[in-house]
Amino acid sequence: MDVIVKAITEPESLRSQCLITPVFTDGKLSKVARRLNKASGGVIQAMVKRGDISGKVADTLLLPAISGVKAERILLLGCGEGKKLAEADFRKLLTAGLKVASDSKLKDACLLIDELSVQGRDNAWAAGQVAIAGGSANYRYSETVSKPKPAATLKRVTVTSKADKQTKASANQGKAIATGMNVAKELGNLPGNICTPSYLAKQAKALGRKHKSLSVSVLEEKKMRELGMGSLLSVTAGTDQPAKLIVMEYKGAAKSQKPHALVGKGITFDSGGISLKPGAAMDEMKYDMCGAASVMGTMTAITELKLPINVVAVIAAAENLPAGNATKPGDVVTSMSGQTIEVLNTDAEGRLVLCDALTYVEKFKPQSVIDIATLTGACVVALGKHASGLYSNEDDFAEELLDAGKQIGDKAWHMPLWDEYQSQLNSNFADIANIGGPGGGSITAACFLSRFAKNMRWAHMDIAGTAWNSGGNKGATGRPVGLLTQYLINKSGK
Ligand code: BES
Ligand code: MN
Ligand code: ZN
Repeated sequence: MDVIVKAITEPESLRSQCLITPVFTDGKLSKVARRLNKASGGVIQAMVKRGDISGKVADTLLLPAISGVKAERILLLGCGEGKKLAEADFRKLLTAGLKVASDSKLKDACLLIDELSVQGRDNAWAAGQVAIAGGSANYRYSETVSKPKPAATLKRVTVTSKADKQTKASANQGKAIATGMNVAKELGNLPGNICTPSYLAKQAKALGRKHKSLSVSVLEEKKMRELGMGSLLSVTAGTDQPAKLIVMEYKGAAKSQKPHALVGKGITFDSGGISLKPGAAMDEMKYDMCGAASVMGTMTAITELKLPINVVAVIAAAENLPAGNATKPGDVVTSMSGQTIEVLNTDAEGRLVLCDALTYVEKFKPQSVIDIATLTGACVVALGKHASGLYSNEDDFAEELLDAGKQIGDKAWHMPLWDEYQSQLNSNFADIANIGGPGGGSITAACFLSRFAKNMRWAHMDIAGTAWNSGGNKGATGRPVGLLTQYLINKSGK
C-alpha cells in the first residue's frame, strides 16, 4: 500500500473513494469535519447530534455519498478529545479507520489528519505510522482456507500533511516495514505441515532470486555435521524433516564494511521432543519459527529500502519431535564452539539451535549480532504480550534497540543478564546445562546464549509473548520486524 503525503486545501472537491475525517468527543467537529459539514448542508453535524458516533478514539461511522462533497464516502473517525494524542491512541485510530477502508474493499482513501497532533511526534513519524497501519490492515490469511476472503484492494492512502522530504521518506520506510511484517505474519501463520525447514529455505532462496543485492545459501545437515554443530543437530534427531541453516547476505555497502547480523530461531514445530509438551494449545508451537520469520521480514524490508549497509542473516530451521532416535534428557552433545551441553530438557531446544548459529555467524566478523527467538514461556509470564524481552552484553547496544522500538511502536524491555544467574546453568556432566531451573527462565535462557556470543556485540530478543496473539484473535503479529528494521535504518543513517 502506497502512502501519498499531500497538503489539501479543498477536501470537498477531492476525488477519492473515502475521506477519513476526524470528529471529537462531546459532538465536537474537527476543522475539516466542519468544512465538509458546511459543504454538505449540515449532514455530519446531524449524524453526530443523533449520537451515531461518539468521537471516542477509534469509533467509526461510514457515510455513503454526501451531496456537496465529491468523494464517494466519508468515514467519520473518533479521535478523542481533540487534544494532543497519545501515541497508542493515534495508532489505534489509524488502525480502526484503515481497517474499515480495507474491509470495505476500497482502492484508495484520504486521511484528513493534518490538524491532529501526537505527543512528542512530528508529521514524518505520523506518515510512517499510517503506512504501517494501512499495510497491516491489508493482511489476509488465505493459504489454507478453501473459500478465502478476497484479497485486500486498498492500494493508496493519501495523508494530508506537509509534504517534505522527511515525511515522504518516513512513509516509504513505513511501507517497507509493513511489507516485512506481512511476510513474517504469513510465514508464522502457515501450519507446521507446510512451513517446514525446507519450506523456509525455499522461501529464502526465492527472495534471493528476486533481489540482486541479496544472496542466499542453505547448509544441509551433512555440512552442519562437518562443522561440528552437534547441538543444533541434536534437536532435529527425532524428525524426518531435514534441518536447514539458511544464510542470507544483503549487500548494500562496500565489501569492506562489516555486516550487522540477525540470527533467527526457526523451529517450525516444537512438540517439546521427549520432554513432550502438554496438549493444550500445542498447535501454537507452529509459531516457534517466528524469530526466523521476523528475520526474513526484516531482510525483505531492508532490501526494498536499499539501505546502504551490509546485513547477514542466519536462520536455524528445524523441527522438534519425539521418536526412537530423538535426543533424550541427560544426553550430552558438543556444540560447534566446542562447549559440551547436558540436555536436561529437550523442550529447551531453541537455545540448542541458536548457540550453533551464533558460533557460525562469528565467521562474518559482524559489527553487531541480534538473535530473535520465541525462546521461553517465562518471558510471557514476565512481560506479557506488550514488550519483547531484550538482553545484551553491551548496554549501549540495548539502548539503541530499545530506542528503535520506541520510535516505531514495537516495544522491548531491557532485562538483566547478570553474572549471578549464570551458575544456574552449572552441570555435573558437561560444560553447561540447557536449563537453569525454576527461577528467571527467560534470563537463564539468555545467559545460555551469552556463552556463545562472548566475542561479539550481541543482543537477544525473547519474542515468545509478542510474536503472535492467542484466542479468538489468533495470528502472527509480524513483530519485531518494526524494531529491527528501524534499528537498521538508524544504523544506515537514512
Ligand atoms: N518455544 C518454547 C517457548 C514458548 C513456550 C514460547 C510457550 C511461547 C509460548 C521453548 O522452546 C520452550 O519450550 N521453552 C521451555 C523452556 C524450559 C523447558 C526451560 C519453556 O518455556 O517452558
Ligand atoms: Mn521448546
Ligand atoms: Zn521452542
